[in-house]
Amino acid sequence: MTRIAVLISGGGSNMVALVRAMQSGGWAEPVLVLANDPDAGGLQKARAMGVQTAVVDHRAFKGDRGAFEKALGDTLATAKPDILCLAGFMRVLTADFVTKWEGRMLNIHPSLLPKYKGLHTHLRALEAGDLQHGCTVHEVTPELDDGPILGQAMLDVAPDDTPETLAARVLPLEHTLYPRVLERFVAGEKTLLSLRNVNVD
Ligand code: GAR
Repeated sequence: MTRIAVLISGGGSNMVALVRAMQSGGWAEPVLVLANDPDAGGLQKARAMGVQTAVVDHRAFKGDRGAFEKALGDTLATAKPDILCLAGFMRVLTADFVTKWEGRMLNIHPSLLPKYKGLHTHLRALEAGDLQHGCTVHEVTPELDDGPILGQAMLDVAPDDTPETLAARVLPLEHTLYPRVLERFVAGEKTLLSLRNVNVD
């Protein structure tokens, strides 16, 4: 069975969606949820779902990215994952780390990439007057929020949307998109999955 590790920094709602889908579908095994912050709310949720957790606190490494990533790699090695899923993991990974996992690491990003790499995606979509917005799952390559796009889910921006309402409307789309893309990826399917007007959560 394909072994999946999920990397989180916060609440971990995408991680929960991934773990639920794996546990109910049986197409992969969630072997580790790893956070860079001991206070990440997702850690408790993972344990409640019976998934092993670990913390590699980036603050302990005082800006030494190499040492942080060495610790990440060592912790991951204990769980022997085949695939890494970044799910709201808010640390930028170096080319060194990414290259080791290239072709085996996915990320979810709250915009229709290649638009709005980086932060404040919902605000930037509104400021640009976009009529459509959404989220993207892509393979991770050394350049930030780049890499082959595997899936996108989109919605129509409403005239009264704010960054907060958009974030709240996009998040359930993420929960629908990410497990579907991961399941396909595990099966070797890398063609684009495009979801519009999906029923979510
Ligand atoms: C999600 O919206 C995810 O797309 C975003 O952080 C949130 C995490 O929520 N990720 C990024 O912005 C990565 N650049 P979650 O912890 O509830 O899954």
